[in-house]
Amino acid sequence: MTHKIAVIPGDGIGIEVINEGVKVLNCVSQLDPKIQFEFTHFPWGCEFYSKTGKMMDDDGIERLSKFDGIFLGAVGYPGVPDHISLWGLLLRIRKSFDQYVNVRPVKLLKGAPCPLKEKSPKDINMIFIRENSEGEYAGSGSWLYRDKPNEVVIQDGVFSRVGCERIIRYAFELARTEKKSLTSISKGNALNYSMVFWDQIFQQLSQEYPDVETHSYLVDAAAMLMITKPERFEIVVTSNLFGDILTDLGAAIAGGMGLAAGANLNPEGNFPSMFEPIHGSAPDIAGKQLANPLATVWSASQLLEFFGYKEWAARLIDAIEYLLVEQKTLTPDLGGTAKTADVGDAVVAYLQKHF
Ligand code: NAI
Ligand code: MG
Repeated sequence: MTHKIAVIPGDGIGIEVINEGVKVLNCVSQLDPKIQFEFTHFPWGCEFYSKTGKMMDDDGIERLSKFDGIFLGAVGYPGVPDHISLWGLLLRIRKSFDQYVNVRPVKLLKGAPCPLKEKSPKDINMIFIRENSEGEYAGSGSWLYRDKPNEVVIQDGVFSRVGCERIIRYAFELARTEKKSLTSISKGNALNYSMVFWDQIFQQLSQEYPDVETHSYLVDAAAMLMITKPERFEIVVTSNLFGDILTDLGAAIAGGMGLAAGANLNPEGNFPSMFEPIHGSAPDIAGKQLANPLATVWSASQLLEFFGYKEWAARLIDAIEYLLVEQKTLTPDLGGTAKTADVGDAVVAYLQKHF
């Protein structure tokens, strides 16, 4: 089966890490001819913006809609304000394609650095399901009496019944399949509309999944518990804002930015889903082959899993773990001296050897 993948390297290290991701996916195709990819590259991002005044072509969304998936590096660069680069490309894709599920594994692999002294891989093994389409990031609000003494800004949190139900249901289904507990993270004591509503829907849906063990935490307590008792969390479902913050915390306890991946899914397949490392374009190290491509390899694993190739998805994670344990071919962020491309090559070598 041939999967048509749109590749958007974007800016800075996005270009370097996505090269390695494509290299690894090509290796999978070579080893397993049943899985074929057709890659089409799009040069969109901040450099494109500096030439054209746009982050992507006007018909970009329409063109992307013809693909089965999108593989994205990172977007954003000094000189282009972040709200322009983010809203002009990344958020535009997420919203246009109703990618309402953000899946972020928070899994400490063997050999990965962890700042929590007493915790090991068996303790840190979560999957965050972050609502990705509404909540506090819906772009709704108003700015009144601009530049006047009585200036007021209002940023709304948008929580629709459909929006909450579909993300919470997705998480319940995952918890059921994986035979894991499901934790909802909210803040019903202070956010007396949105989070009371969220909690109510979580409670209602839990009736349909009596086989799934559930927990519910306030976000502040959850932040603390992720550090003191991360083993309490397995599958986690939460709102857009809380998920954004907590998954960075998750990245910090599970090996750092160089290992954190995220999938933006439209589970129904009405639109393409998008796979990306969660780090940015890292202008401080861009263009020097210093970037760690393992987060991108992890997102390639998520892509394979989404297309139904579970065994290959697992093999890519095994490859990452092998490199972490071996400690020979790692980039400087993980204490090594290898170049970005060396790490990609090492993943390929592992796959070739273990298939
Ligand atoms: P960043 O994630 O680009 O970098 C933060 C720090 O982590 C830097 O010191 C960087 O060198 C390091 N780092 C990040 N990824 C790494 C990797 N793969 N290997 C080794 N080191 C790595 O975040 P920052 O600096 O706040 O943002 C830079 C630009 O990226 C901004 O324009 C921002 O808006 C954009 N950005 C884009 C994202 C996306 O496309 N999804 C996400 C986050 C930021
Ligand atoms: Mg973030």
